[in-house]
Amino acid sequence: MELCQLPPRELFGMLPANRVGEQDRRYVGEVLSAGFRNTEDPADIFARFESAFARRFGVRYAILHNSGTGTMQSCLLAAGIGPGDEVIVPPLTAVSTAMVVVQCGAVPVFADIDPHTFNIDPRDVARKITPYTRAVIPVSLYGLAPDYDAIMELARTHGLTVIEDDAQCFLAEYKGKLVGTIGHAASFSFQASKHMTSGGDGGVVVTDDKEYARSIRKRASLGFRTLGAAPGDVFVPRDLRQDHSFERHDVMGYNFRMSAVQAALGLAQLERLDALVAARVYIAKRYEQVIRGERCQWLIPPVVPEGCSHTYWSYVCKLDEGRAGVDWRTFRRIFISHGGDGLYAAWRPVHLEPVFRHLAFYGRPEQAPNFDPRYQGSVKCYQPGDCPVCESLQPRLCQFKTSMQTLEKAESQISALRATIRVLSR
Ligand SMILES: Cc1ncc(COP(=O)(O)O)c(C=O)c1O
Repeated sequence: MELCQLPPRELFGMLPANRVGEQDRRYVGEVLSAGFRNTEDPADIFARFESAFARRFGVRYAILHNSGTGTMQSCLLAAGIGPGDEVIVPPLTAVSTAMVVVQCGAVPVFADIDPHTFNIDPRDVARKITPYTRAVIPVSLYGLAPDYDAIMELARTHGLTVIEDDAQCFLAEYKGKLVGTIGHAASFSFQASKHMTSGGDGGVVVTDDKEYARSIRKRASLGFRTLGAAPGDVFVPRDLRQDHSFERHDVMGYNFRMSAVQAALGLAQLERLDALVAARVYIAKRYEQVIRGERCQWLIPPVVPEGCSHTYWSYVCKLDEGRAGVDWRTFRRIFISHGGDGLYAAWRPVHLEPVFRHLAFYGRPEQAPNFDPRYQGSVKCYQPGDCPVCESLQPRLCQFKTSMQTLEKAESQISALRATIRVLSR
């Protein structure tokens, strides 16, 4: 990415204060002036944002949603996933990745992670495939793609749908391809913490498959019969559309539609996405320089496999508590006392969150899809030991922020890390 070569002052100069710039205000203004016109206008804000996003990723279709959770649910439903099916997901992810499976009536199966990249381990995916497996949702955790060659090979062999969860991964590359263009569809989130946001929440699905795109759009918009793969694709003459005999819905769907104001903000953010990503990469590199420059042996930087680029939604290191001489909580306390802006742990492994551990999906375990008579598989519960690599790593992960929008704020966090390392190395 060329912007990564820019002097940092110039790069951060491209990011508006509080993440809202002139362009954001202009597009929101256009939406307000248009009075929320009919969404079938091909020049409307939805079509503009969708085609700009699809163009940036070099794909044919982008389908806007109101979150990066609804996106995955539309993808699963459109792939025909339902009761009796299993879907393989990683345990180290936002709960959404697994919840959407349950919300389709299917059973999530957790495949363990690779201890170096923290991403789903294709070898465990292979072990977890059964005759009931229909899909895999690999997550590009923290901004890095998983081992897609191996995952796609498994998918081809077993006829699985691959839905990329790229909520945290914008513009990363995997062996010459943009992440988001490898699976059958990819889901991105525009929630506030992500590389780009559409005003705090939002999401998009991208795919090259016209039929799949159409089906995803229908699932996200109440199953309207007339929806097409692209926005405003199917034109129904007004006389027909307004007639009392007009039938509208032919499949079940949710309302996962994005609002026009969100689309306006998203389009403006997309136009500076390269700079937003480059700033996070710059901050990550600075953390890494500090760790290596201080010869710190106990914070282990993230691994980036050959052929991949990392876009660092967060800069995540493993803490070797033995060598650091402090535990995770003490390390966090010292970091904060030196000006660190908090330090997040990684999520608890999803299969051990109470809702999964107690199968409390719908109030009672017997109502979980795992006990649906149509489900013939063997996953009846989730418990410690299901994903040992993830369970042992998760308490030692340190997520350093990369979301700072000014060079000064970025440097203050980098100095806090340097000071913490020096205190602990004395
Ligand atoms: C990996 C991952 N998947 C899915 C989501 C869900 O996205 P959203 O919050 O837009 O629903 C998030 C973020 O929140 C995430 O980090």
